[in-house]
Amino acid sequence: MERPGAEPAIHDGTGRVDLAFTVHSKAEGGADVPPTERGVRVPPGVTVFDAASWNGIAIDSTCGGHGTCHKCKVRISPPSGEGADGRVGAQVPITRHDVRTFTSDQLAQGWRLGCLVQATRNLAVEVPPLTTRPKAATVGIGRQVILRPALQKRYVELAEATLSDQRTDLVRLTDAIDDLELTADLHVLRRLSTVLREADFKVTAVIIDEALVDVEPGDTTGARYAIAFDLGTTTVVGTLLDVGTGTPLAVTSSLNKQQPFGGDVITRISATMMDKDTLGRLQAAAGATLAELASQVCREAGVDPAQVYEVAVAGNATMTALALGIDPEPLGVAPFVMSSAQPPTVLASELGLTLHPRARAFFFPALGAYVGGDIVAGMLATGMDRDKRARLFIDVGTNCEIVLSDGETILSTAAPAGPAFEGGAIRCGMRAADGAIEVIKVDPHALGNDQAVTLGVIGDVEPRGLCGSGLVDAVAELVRVGLLDSSGRLVTDEAAKEIAPALADRLAKIGEERVFILHRPTAESEPAECVYLSQRDVRELQFAKAAISTGWTLLLEQLGLEHGDVQQVLLAGSFGSYLSPASAVRIGLVPKLPVLRIVAAGNVAGEGAKMALLSVRERAGALALLEEVTYVELSDRPDFNDSFVEQLSF
Ligand code: FES
Repeated sequence: MERPGAEPAIHDGTGRVDLAFTVHSKAEGGADVPPTERGVRVPPGVTVFDAASWNGIAIDSTCGGHGTCHKCKVRISPPSGEGADGRVGAQVPITRHDVRTFTSDQLAQGWRLGCLVQATRNLAVEVPPLTTRPKAATVGIGRQVILRPALQKRYVELAEATLSDQRTDLVRLTDAIDDLELTADLHVLRRLSTVLREADFKVTAVIIDEALVDVEPGDTTGARYAIAFDLGTTTVVGTLLDVGTGTPLAVTSSLNKQQPFGGDVITRISATMMDKDTLGRLQAAAGATLAELASQVCREAGVDPAQVYEVAVAGNATMTALALGIDPEPLGVAPFVMSSAQPPTVLASELGLTLHPRARAFFFPALGAYVGGDIVAGMLATGMDRDKRARLFIDVGTNCEIVLSDGETILSTAAPAGPAFEGGAIRCGMRAADGAIEVIKVDPHALGNDQAVTLGVIGDVEPRGLCGSGLVDAVAELVRVGLLDSSGRLVTDEAAKEIAPALADRLAKIGEERVFILHRPTAESEPAECVYLSQRDVRELQFAKAAISTGWTLLLEQLGLEHGDVQQVLLAGSFGSYLSPASAVRIGLVPKLPVLRIVAAGNVAGEGAKMALLSVRERAGALALLEEVTYVELSDRPDFNDSFVEQLSF
């Protein structure tokens, strides 16, 4: 996306920045309500606007982050404790758009357009109350959605029946909404006569597409809610949306309750193959996860769950099958076939959700057994089908999905990367939770051993292990300073003393295996009590990255593109978004490109799910992707093995 007027801010693509948001809002009648505080951590280079949007913080906008509407006003200051005198001019560049929007006093006070501020350092961000009830909402990485939700409400005041006007209650209602061809089901007919009479024929029709799903007494048009779910194998995220304004009201996440059946899709599929009752249990676990999140977001936003009429679910093909109680076995064995690319829309109650009794659940379609609805949702959110530039989309995880577009043709494939990125199969591996080392910087010229390795730890607590982004950083840094050779072998102790004396005594042995110590709890700690990177961990990462880079290399070849032709690499998913672009380039996980072309895309599956709820056009766009994208199966390609071996080295 063009960010007019602002030179890309300088950053080296490593680490994290903390943004402390203070969000002001107004109550219905215009009275001020106390501001809310939210802290978010994002990779450097993400715009303040995107960081807010990923985290469900609404900032005024009608242009979707393109720098043209001049509405996304925020006040930037250094974080408290860093001499917060409000003067940020030197640190946050002023663009020509800022100059047109703000007075010089306002600029001096730190006012900027949020979509043009790249967060390259810790910042405090004040968000003024929304001035408009936007007719367009922004989601994904700056995509704008014109609000046209499938869910509509129409308030009507009808004439009572008389002996000379004996139209049925339903005809009376549908005549008043004559721009739609409404159909009504039994649920509505059972309630219609009573509600009409009790409410003096002043009612609100609840409509999804052209189906009349309920009639409510009085005017309830202001209460139109829906929930977007990103149903991940590990983590599930739910966002409650006001579809009338496009505003996210609450967002929350939890672990998928299917975890006890296995950490990845293959173990869960195997579990259903070994015991026929397991499918029912997995389905119930998925439903319970969604139900818990639904009630949490409703509680948080003070919304009656009975006024949530629609949900959209973006999940991979296995998660979708399991949530719907469809036997996933064919997804797990060659030739990897889905029961259907487009699951039917079902009642949310069939998933175990207690929302409006006729609330519907829309599931995203899948391109293949291993390029599922979550990726289709991500492609929708990032506009993969609408950009003329060559772009590469990588969702890094146990199964890695890759999409490449040259502006004309879109190819997709899947690469089995294994569990390394989620901390599995790594000796000191752990999920990205408190105590996980997520950022590592190594300075071979540091004076003391203590300063030679700098660690960023989630929760700023004592390090307990290494999560995926920390693993990638560790390997990339050791390759950079020469302690890992290009074949992925830790160099000998002698070589280490020459190359990086300050780091040499971090090389140790545990049993027969060589390790590099990242964190030693006390000076006396034995290597096995430390947090370390082992030689075998490096091998695991090599296999994972070779699987992924083989995927995109073969797709590039198929479209006749070179590395340098790729204008943007989108790293998606909860892991990809937190990966350091510089480290990803260094280990060859992504093509060799300037780090500024590598963009953390955030939870794009969840963003796509929101879009589908806010716009019928976008929902149709997701279905159209099934026709537009060609799925490439890599495993039967004769050149796969050669390419894989080539990609193993750093
Ligand atoms: S100018 Fe429109 S979102 Fe920033």
